[in-house]
Amino acid sequence: MASKPIVFVSRGAPPEPLKDLATVCEIRQWKEQHVISREEMMKNARGVHALFVHPPDRVDAELFDAAGPQLKVVGTMSVGLDHVDVTECRKRGIAVGYTPGVLTIAVAELAVGFLLATARRMSEAFRAVHNGVWGTRWDNALWMTGAEVAGSTVGIVGLGRIGMAVAKRLKAFEPARILYCGHSVKPCAKEVGAEFVPFKELLSSSDFVIATCSVSADNQHLFNKEAFSAMKSSAIFINVTRGALVDQDALLQALTSGQIAAAGLDVTTPEPLPPNHPLLQLSNCSVLPHLGSGSHRTRTNMCRITVNNILAGLRGEPLPSPIP
Ligand code: DGY
Repeated sequence: MASKPIVFVSRGAPPEPLKDLATVCEIRQWKEQHVISREEMMKNARGVHALFVHPPDRVDAELFDAAGPQLKVVGTMSVGLDHVDVTECRKRGIAVGYTPGVLTIAVAELAVGFLLATARRMSEAFRAVHNGVWGTRWDNALWMTGAEVAGSTVGIVGLGRIGMAVAKRLKAFEPARILYCGHSVKPCAKEVGAEFVPFKELLSSSDFVIATCSVSADNQHLFNKEAFSAMKSSAIFINVTRGALVDQDALLQALTSGQIAAAGLDVTTPEPLPPNHPLLQLSNCSVLPHLGSGSHRTRTNMCRITVNNILAGLRGEPLPSPIP
């Protein structure tokens, strides 16, 4: 190993935690004004001892080959692991750390805010004000009206940490029912009075369908043509987990045909979504740039955990927050 181990950090990150890393490592950091490409990632990984990554940076055999055999540890600043080939990491004895827990509240707050904003058509309304449409349409009291959570049925797909935090917060808005689906009944559901139902029933009964489950090989495109056609025409769909859960062509069709009322997506495929993407042309679809964990405090905590994982991995010690 060189006198100081080298860490490649694939984007800007909160500076305070990085200072700890800099005391023992040489930090190479991506500082260009665009998201790092695969080629640039592979080039920068060459010869490093640790990688500090973030979704959607793909971490797989090809990247490890480009990095070289001295690579000891990968720290991903995320709870999601769909971008990491965990089997390949294990095969090569490369330690991997992630950041569960600390982002639950930030993601739940965003999910609730986004749900309310989508229900009340806020992004469409902002555009109408900026485009001068307000004065021409406020002749009608029903202009720009939306839906309320009070008295509604809210369906949560995946009552894990984030799903539960969303349910607790939404409860304050007094929905008539909270439904959830997943692999099994969750004892914690009692705290919010949530009812376990099959996926299909959740879709057909809910006014709001919120995806909070993690993505795996089993649930890619869970929200497909069939799923959207099972939903109410007034339903609002919110996704704060991963774009891969959604068949975006089917969603586009559902939104343009009136099969569902609106969607709020914090996650898409790909990310970033190109500005000319058809979903971005729809007035009933709002897209955010994957901001779930994007509070200053949470991103700083995530960075600190990632730094601690990397430091432990470089010392050959167990990581404080290893992948399960
Ligand atoms: C996560 O941690 O997986 C988030 O989606 C990334 O911001």
